[in-house]
Amino acid sequence: AQQKNTIVVETKQGKTQISKYIYSHFAEHLGRCIYGGFYVGDTSKIPNTNGVRNDIVAALKKMKIPALRWPGGCFADTYHWRDGVGPKAERPSIVNRWWGGVTEDNSFGTHDFLNMCEALGTEPYLAGNIGSGTVQELADWVQYVNSDTKNPMSDLRKKNGREKPWSVRFWGVGNEAWGCGGNMTPDYYANEFRKYATFMSDWTNTGHIFRVASGANVDDYNWTETLMKGIPKQMVEGVALHHYSIVEWNKKGSATKFNEDTYFKTIKSALRMEELVTKHSAIMDKYDPEKKVALVVDEWGGWYEVEDGTNPGFLYQQNTIRDALIAGVTLNIFNNHAERVRMANLAQTVNVLQAVILTDKEKMILTPTYHVMEMYSVHQDATLLPIKVTSNDYTFGTDKLPAVSASASVDKSGVTHITLANIDPKNAQDIELTLDGGAYKTVTGRALTSKNLQDRNTFDQPNAIQPVAFKGASLKGGKLQVKLSPISVVVLELK
Ligand code: AHR
Repeated sequence: AQQKNTIVVETKQGKTQISKYIYSHFAEHLGRCIYGGFYVGDTSKIPNTNGVRNDIVAALKKMKIPALRWPGGCFADTYHWRDGVGPKAERPSIVNRWWGGVTEDNSFGTHDFLNMCEALGTEPYLAGNIGSGTVQELADWVQYVNSDTKNPMSDLRKKNGREKPWSVRFWGVGNEAWGCGGNMTPDYYANEFRKYATFMSDWTNTGHIFRVASGANVDDYNWTETLMKGIPKQMVEGVALHHYSIVEWNKKGSATKFNEDTYFKTIKSALRMEELVTKHSAIMDKYDPEKKVALVVDEWGGWYEVEDGTNPGFLYQQNTIRDALIAGVTLNIFNNHAERVRMANLAQTVNVLQAVILTDKEKMILTPTYHVMEMYSVHQDATLLPIKVTSNDYTFGTDKLPAVSASASVDKSGVTHITLANIDPKNAQDIELTLDGGAYKTVTGRALTSKNLQDRNTFDQPNAIQPVAFKGASLKGGKLQVKLSPISVVVLELK
């Protein structure tokens, strides 16, 4: 029989803000993320504004999307921004060498992306081209989008129809420099970073530019160590980390046809994020005890085989309640590491990998992951509350994982939120929460769950999985009793 799980929340001990940017996203020129996803062109019958789908913008605004990374990914180190500005008919094409070898017409470029970010109410995070670009090219891009003074780049921007600069704060200095970004060694990249960062002037004069160094692949701790040692703190605001929940790189398995063994391994890979951010943070602490440099997990999520009949280079996969659990446990980890993890970008927003939105021509569905992102948005910029979770095991075969994951915060109006996930597909979890220092009168909540691990939303049944009112929580004698059903994600609101 299952024991009662216990959670202690220190409701008056919060001191760290959970950066809203932990809830950021990633949109690469890959498959149908940009072209045929966000962007359908202004001659499309699908309702759009300047070519960007209105339904996608509305859904993302509702979910609350603080920052959006673009144009890659691997694509970023092949992208030449000048090819995507000016009259669309005159733009050269580009072959997307990483993703399907398709020819793109560059009709979605800098103005299109930055204007779309304004429509979304999101901050852009531009990834610069280090692998095949030049220092001058990136320096010019920064000046083009950010400068308000008179110079050739701001003149060009104005000529292309945009008077005011966009003031882009977040900049990636390359992507996966250890791989598709140029196969560099960490020492070589650290020097390249220093060179590029030197010329990325803060044209906004707000002291705001935020340069993210291309970070480690999973547990490449030497990469983080070399960057932290080799790059002066005043030149770098963030160091990245990429980790996908993959069972086996060469045998990723189907997004929808999988057994409990594969489910267990996927969630185990997702939960590994705890160890990764802990160890990368410890290295950063050595060189930056004041925690000035953020750990930016700018790619994370589940990665499976593509859906049958789709282009293998397009990374189009369905999204089940398994993905909701990946999101639930990962976001709890990020929240609990908010001191150092100050941005994270789920890969990717539309039609690619662990997408929050899938489209099929004019149809659009919200995935279970979308709902988790929306439910957890209550944590954005709230104050993290220290939490201690003592969980039952979810056992599969000879291996086990903690069944319950949690994080808690108090928002600016004094409302406390606790997000919980139960990864166990067979057992409900009874939890007793001690809310130290809290005198709460009411508890309400929402839950996302489904019967089978493989359940999902489809274009025929778009609302098969969506949040419902949660009735499994009650306040008794100063304690909060909660019953989580198997494979569920819950957000509680305490007043
Ligand atoms: O998100 C898909 C790809 O994964 C990105 O382009 C790359 O950065 C990573 O390897």
